[in-house]
Amino acid sequence: MPASADLIVLRAAGVGLALDATGTGLPRVLHWGADLGEDALDLLAAAQPVYPNQPLGAPLLPTQADRWAGQPALAGHRDGTYPHLRLLRTEPVAAMVDPAGGGTVTVHATDEAAGVRLRTEIELGAQGVLRMRHAVTSTDAGTYTVDGLLCLLPVPADAVEVLDFTGRWSRERVPQRTAFGHQAVAHESRRGRTGFDAPPFFAAGTAAFGFRHGQVWGVHVGWSGDHTQLAQRTVDGDGVLGGGELLGAGEIRLGDGETYTTPWVYFCHSPSGLDGLSDAMHAWLRARDTHPRTPRPVTLNTWEAVYFDHDLTRLTALARTAAELGVERFVLDDGWFLGRRDDTAGLGDWHVDPTVWPDGLHPLVDEVRRLGLQFGLWVEPEMINPDSDLARAHPDWYLATPDRLPANWRHQQVLDLARPEVWAHLLQRLDALVTEYRPDYLKWDHNRDLVEAVHDGTAGVHAQTAAAYRLLDALRARHPHLEIESCSSGGARVDLGILSRTDRVWASDNNDPLERQHIQRWTALLLPPELMGSHVGPPVSHTNGRAANLSFRCLTALFGHAGIEWDITGCTEDERAQLSAWIGAYRRLRGLLHSGRTVRADHPDPSAHLYGIVSTGGEHAVFAYAQLTASAYEGTTRLRLPGLDPLARYRVGLVPELPVPRIWAQDWSPQVTLTGAALAGHGLAAPLLRPADGFVLELHRVG
Ligand code: DGJ
Repeated sequence: MPASADLIVLRAAGVGLALDATGTGLPRVLHWGADLGEDALDLLAAAQPVYPNQPLGAPLLPTQADRWAGQPALAGHRDGTYPHLRLLRTEPVAAMVDPAGGGTVTVHATDEAAGVRLRTEIELGAQGVLRMRHAVTSTDAGTYTVDGLLCLLPVPADAVEVLDFTGRWSRERVPQRTAFGHQAVAHESRRGRTGFDAPPFFAAGTAAFGFRHGQVWGVHVGWSGDHTQLAQRTVDGDGVLGGGELLGAGEIRLGDGETYTTPWVYFCHSPSGLDGLSDAMHAWLRARDTHPRTPRPVTLNTWEAVYFDHDLTRLTALARTAAELGVERFVLDDGWFLGRRDDTAGLGDWHVDPTVWPDGLHPLVDEVRRLGLQFGLWVEPEMINPDSDLARAHPDWYLATPDRLPANWRHQQVLDLARPEVWAHLLQRLDALVTEYRPDYLKWDHNRDLVEAVHDGTAGVHAQTAAAYRLLDALRARHPHLEIESCSSGGARVDLGILSRTDRVWASDNNDPLERQHIQRWTALLLPPELMGSHVGPPVSHTNGRAANLSFRCLTALFGHAGIEWDITGCTEDERAQLSAWIGAYRRLRGLLHSGRTVRADHPDPSAHLYGIVSTGGEHAVFAYAQLTASAYEGTTRLRLPGLDPLARYRVGLVPELPVPRIWAQDWSPQVTLTGAALAGHGLAAPLLRPADGFVLELHRVG
């Protein structure tokens, strides 16, 4: 249904957006946040400007022309002239309001004199996720250079804190909080990939907002190259929140008729904490046509089991043991291609190494399939080792200034994917591999930052990222049933740009469950568990040398797309029995785990995590309690389980397939029936556990 041309109100899932499209300029954003209800138009009509002649609301594309003194949403120039644009609409704002919730808005504007056209698209999905992107086109001779183009939305003065993230290899997505006053808080990433530190959501909120309380506004930039997220408030008025791609000097130079389009920038609002952001985003992701719909198979990945020691007999034994335990997918990791005996050589030579695999991968693949498992294969297409046949044949294929090779990183360089012949070569090689071996799944890795990335003489991260996306799209178009995982030295490429062409992410190379508890908690802020790979590693973590018991490793890996990354041929009988029971639990519960709502308690004891998944109808739930460090409490804190139906009664017990926790040499096995209100309000008494221990409760509605 088309909306009123002057005042546009979109509403969905408790979120409202109101735009004032009167006048000749770009629409102004009167409101983004909680749904203002049926009275939205009256409320907005009653609003008064602070100063006479000052328009209400915030500009859709704030620049100096709007008296915006903060970072401009659009920065650019035409060969040094027109550093400031004045954009006037060329046609009425097109708005479609969906009766089921949400809708779309499209705006066209131009600065005739500067020779620049703008198109802005806004979508509010039925789940409450708003996404926006701009496109600028040069309409004149000469060159219009885009220095930056951001998507920004207003946030009110109530937002006084920013949740940002830092992180590194093996410790991705570490939260950090900053006061949000009259200044800019920005998170900029110039690594040519999303980054270990990239915020799943960059969020501004009311004081001390938590998982279940406080009003929160969150933004996520769906882009796998350089990018920025920022919150900014000037003394003149309300603040803005948003982000976009970070462009290199001269990276986007538009000739007449050429267009630059920003990535989609995603915005979520929650009246009650960070869980509301996840709720909206998980529901939005699950509603996509491309969202994986088949049960997420239990995966055995060979990396921490054998590393580069590829041997048919050993790998076949691994696959057989995996099948006996109930594993459903076998993934052959790094080490299978020409010259790849360690990480110093071979990248680029995507042919099976005949010295290790004289009959190709067929004997292994055939056995894997005979065992009833799916087959997956590791690749790292964007990279090249200088020690490879490809590098020797094409020394000019590097992403670099000619004769100025960037520093090696893990002994490797980056291929210039935006060169058509490089791109075509990679597509041909990947296509040939997929055609020959018919893998169900590729683990697509990317193990270095892009530094001094130059394509065709100019800054090259944008072109590289776009070319990588095109490569993934082309391969998927040829092989529609192929699933792809986004891996980048663990979790350095987790964003909604890559996720619109992949089926899961590898959250981290760290399989130590204590570290994983944190990494997964924050990865799951953005992604539902079915998109997040999570494996049971060996008893002593290979990344940090810490030992952890099997039940805690299993508990931790349950809350994702579960798998194993461990040489299970050497497991004891007891370990095999535990693994097989855990796989049974995962397979029984994955329907719930991969469709329910993720809830996290604001547990008062910082030594533990308490979180769960509640089915959308509230009839079934699981909750994990993970003791991370020794508690400072001598007694116990209450386990208050959020997100249940307050009026329903729930039978509470332990997940039967998983080990019973022991306290002072006694089993602890609660069996109670309580209402959702009692479980959320009074809660259960928690047992006093050792660090790196925990349990999983299962709840069934009984009335
Ligand atoms: C980095 C990944 O994160 C690991 O899981 C593994 O695939 C290695 N690369 C292989 O080189």
